[in-house]
Amino acid sequence: MTKHSKDWYAATPAPWPQPVLKGHTIPGYRYTSKAFADEEWQKMWTKSWLLLGREDEIPEPGDYQMEEVGPEGIIMARQADGSIKAFYNVCQHRGARLVFNEIGSTDAFVCPYHGWRFELDGLLTKALDSEDFPEGDPCGKLRLIEIACDTFAGFIWVNLDPDCVSLKEYLGPVWDDWQPYRVQEWKRYLALTANVPVNWKVILDNFNESYHLPAVHPQSDALVEENYRWTQFDMSEEGHNRMWMQSGSPSHRLLATGEPLMKPALEATLKAWELNPDDFRGREFDTREALQQAKRTLGPARGYTYFDDLHDHQLTDTYHYFVFPNFAVSVWAEGFHFLRARPHPTDPEQCVFDNWWYAPAPEGVTTPVNTAAGPVARDAEVEHVVFNFGEQSLGEPIDQDMAVTPGQQLGFRSRAYKGVYLAKQEHRIRRFHEVIDEYIEGKRPAPKRVQAVAAE
Ligand code: FES
Ligand SMILES: [Fe+2]
Repeated sequence: MTKHSKDWYAATPAPWPQPVLKGHTIPGYRYTSKAFADEEWQKMWTKSWLLLGREDEIPEPGDYQMEEVGPEGIIMARQADGSIKAFYNVCQHRGARLVFNEIGSTDAFVCPYHGWRFELDGLLTKALDSEDFPEGDPCGKLRLIEIACDTFAGFIWVNLDPDCVSLKEYLGPVWDDWQPYRVQEWKRYLALTANVPVNWKVILDNFNESYHLPAVHPQSDALVEENYRWTQFDMSEEGHNRMWMQSGSPSHRLLATGEPLMKPALEATLKAWELNPDDFRGREFDTREALQQAKRTLGPARGYTYFDDLHDHQLTDTYHYFVFPNFAVSVWAEGFHFLRARPHPTDPEQCVFDNWWYAPAPEGVTTPVNTAAGPVARDAEVEHVVFNFGEQSLGEPIDQDMAVTPGQQLGFRSRAYKGVYLAKQEHRIRRFHEVIDEYIEGKRPAPKRVQAVAAE
């Protein structure tokens, strides 16, 4: 199939290989036990690639970002040659944290305790009374502990395992799937971070299934095909998941309710792409294809030049990705919803939840970005806001998701919770937990040496 031939436009996404599931029952202690959380940290978090930073936050040499994951703080610093290095945020003198701010710019990292100076590349160059160390002058000898670091989709990813596979290998099919959207050029339009009183997996379980949509997000049936019979679920060998939901037309679930198929959200979307809702009365399921054609025709002139590289289905449909272990994202042609949960440093029944939104900012586009928390001006500079769950809204759809999670965390503490009873459309949750266990059992990540031998 040649690119941009009729077949190329109309192609549907090739399914990923479906791994065999083992039937995990997902018992409650996985969400409440400190011992289990410690195992996860030692054997899974410290062996996985983690999305932590964003390249465009640190454009100049000396710019750095510091992000926390579990008990660790990680510094990501732009080097003189434009590359990025990542370090544990730990002074090699007596363990003090070097920086506490989330973002900054500096010539070097100077420890607040005794003033040791580490250069941007991690090397210690200055220490008070450096001649007074029986083991030798630490300058030029000690360094910050460096961590594997790479970039993809504009994000900075780190891996605490010095023997890790490459990020590209780790991401598997996600790597190729995301290329045409050019998300590395997109800008952040929402940055809400909440401390939530649930285990981090409660959040990712939620984003690994769409079975909750009719009950939790009743508004979603206007534009998204939330009926599983029309949805494609994929699980990759690498442990990631994907869900393809046709969008731009009503859900087939509406047929059973007798509700009108043309709801205000669909009308507004049609009008935004110069289509008349009245032309589709009685044939509302044709709107998806009409929107694809309209976006194909109008998109590039509106500044969405990359639409030319998207298949028709990518112009309208919702792709939901879960990148193991803690990143979920809904991707559309015009933006993506960034959802990440990070474990609390000590308490398995708390986590840090990031609800962010990215969208392109093509020159000439002045329409606001419709984020999960409402419209945001295209030229806005968005501030990162951190708060405790309940103190402020996370935007309607996420408030709806989060409203059910503390109750589930309570259920996981109960003797009456006997384990899950899952629909097939929720199998990505089972897969998520089985991959965690494969790390804990030492089956992942496969040592590079063994992989190399296997490939011979
Ligand atoms: S702990 Fe950093 S200089 Fe002493
Ligand atoms: Fe949801």
